[in-house]
Amino acid sequence: MNSYNRFGGKVAVVTGGAMGIGAAVAKALAAEGAAVVVLDLDGAAAEEVVKEIEASGGSAVAVVGSVILARDAERAVATAVETYGGLDMLVNDAAVVIYGEVPDFAEEDWDTVLDTNLKGDFLMSKYAIPAIRHRGGGAIVNLASVQALISQREVAAYASSKGAIVTLTKTLALDHAKDKIRVNAVLPGSVRTPMLRHAAELAPGDPEETIEQWGRIHPRGTVIEPSEIAAVVLFLLSDDASAVTGAAYVADAGLSAQAAF
Ligand SMILES: NC(=O)c1ccc[n+]([C@@H]2O[C@H](COP(=O)([O-])OP(=O)(O)OC[C@H]3O[C@@H](n4cnc5c(N)ncnc54)[C@H](O)[C@@H]3O)[C@@H](O)[C@H]2O)c1
Repeated sequence: MNSYNRFGGKVAVVTGGAMGIGAAVAKALAAEGAAVVVLDLDGAAAEEVVKEIEASGGSAVAVVGSVILARDAERAVATAVETYGGLDMLVNDAAVVIYGEVPDFAEEDWDTVLDTNLKGDFLMSKYAIPAIRHRGGGAIVNLASVQALISQREVAAYASSKGAIVTLTKTLALDHAKDKIRVNAVLPGSVRTPMLRHAAELAPGDPEETIEQWGRIHPRGTVIEPSEIAAVVLFLLSDDASAVTGAAYVADAGLSAQAAF
């Protein structure tokens, strides 16, 4: 149990909130008093997060849907307004990664990655911003990746989407400063989530050993835990970050600070 209560009376929509970083953000927000709408494709996992939040005395509701679909994005925002009376915060976390070199990369896979990761942020922002504006202001955090800055092989679609999220974030921050809406991006290194596990399973060898090996690439020697990224997201959503908007906030445990020598 933490000692902060920065979000009492506030309402958040967290996309991809059923697992990984999104679930950690949803639970941390609820623990600090926010009511949370969890929008995710995986209804069963989203309901588990809601149950856990309710068992700890918090308020949450699951919306099963896809950030790719305008009607689902609109429904998630409408659920926040109808259930909790308004919307103050949006966390755009939902994303997918598909690996491959461009010549062999299916056009549909490119669309899936860009639609989920980038268009999803656009659609959610499109419906959330008027609701947040109606409350007199608030904050948006978009999960990008350190891959917006430095890349690796076979991530052309994913890394492109994450780079574009950083530029989308800057434009949204400029457009909506007048509405008292701060918009920031978080750029994590490797975080121990189902997405990372999936990537490790595609690599040869034991997935746990692969994750440990990836951890050793970070200067501190281990991968990042979802709760550590949630702490950064909550800071950016909170009034503590009143001077921070349009930022690409790197949370990579030093990964991108080092050169290969
Ligand atoms: N895990 C990492 O190492 C890492 C590193 C850098 C950035 N990130 C970013 O952090 C965010 C969270 O990553 P994670 O590792 O927790 O991912 P994850 O795959 O573990 O969880 C993502 C969640 O998003 C949901 N989702 C996927 N497509 C959706 C859609 N169309 N509509 C609604 N929900 C959908 C999934 O069902 C899942 O619950 C992503 O934006 C990811 O790109 C992750």
